[in-house]
Amino acid sequence: MLTELFNHGQHRCVMFHDMGTAGDAVQANQFLVIDNDAGAIIDPGGNLAYNDLHLGLMRYCAPSKLQAIIASHADPDIIASLDRWMTATSAPVYISSIWERFIPHFCKPGKTQGRVVGIPDGGMPIRIGKSTLLALPAHFMHSEGNFQFWDAASGILFSGDLGVSVGVDPAVTITSLAPHIKAMEAFHKRYMVSGKILKLWANMVKPLPIRMIVPQHGAPLAGDAVGEFIEWASQLNCGIDLMTQFNYALPE
Ligand SMILES: [Fe+2]
Ligand SMILES: [Fe+2]
Repeated sequence: MLTELFNHGQHRCVMFHDMGTAGDAVQANQFLVIDNDAGAIIDPGGNLAYNDLHLGLMRYCAPSKLQAIIASHADPDIIASLDRWMTATSAPVYISSIWERFIPHFCKPGKTQGRVVGIPDGGMPIRIGKSTLLALPAHFMHSEGNFQFWDAASGILFSGDLGVSVGVDPAVTITSLAPHIKAMEAFHKRYMVSGKILKLWANMVKPLPIRMIVPQHGAPLAGDAVGEFIEWASQLNCGIDLMTQFNYALPE
């Protein structure tokens, strides 16, 4: 299934969800941003997602017009299909510079040669057609080298593993956070490294005119839920904040 998150003629953002998800694999969303006939895929996923996403992509853009394969981090549900994307397109892959030399392990030898752009810790602009995606620092949410992608043309923040709602239908849009906190809390408490990081992130994104926060699992957040989520995240104790000696005891 796919959802058009934004469509203003020359600029479109599409979310693919539940594609190729096997029974025991986590649900994951993949994204396509099209601007003036050029495209980028964000977090294209693993091999389970590849065939359906590739077919879906061709509805919008020829694979030869793909300008960027963009990965928020290096997890298998983000980029394990890289070998096949390297074959099907000539686009470079953008990923944190700290993962630059790790992702060739997803590919046959030499496949990534000259095609990996390491995103520096401070982020960078990525040109797509006539528009620009901005890679925003999102380190330790949850990966050590992690980015979110701000699309000013649509007002969408592609937030990777931040903002995930477990078990919520990705085809719905969350417009009020409170009823969904139960689907978000356990995930964020474990997968986000610390409350300090979330506060720093909240300070960074508050000035942005965000229309939608779209995570890689679960449902997009829009309307009041955007500000409510930023506020909730900025107050959350999580990750190492919650660890005690109890969590580091020798098993019986
Ligand atoms: Fe991840
Ligand atoms: Fe993920």
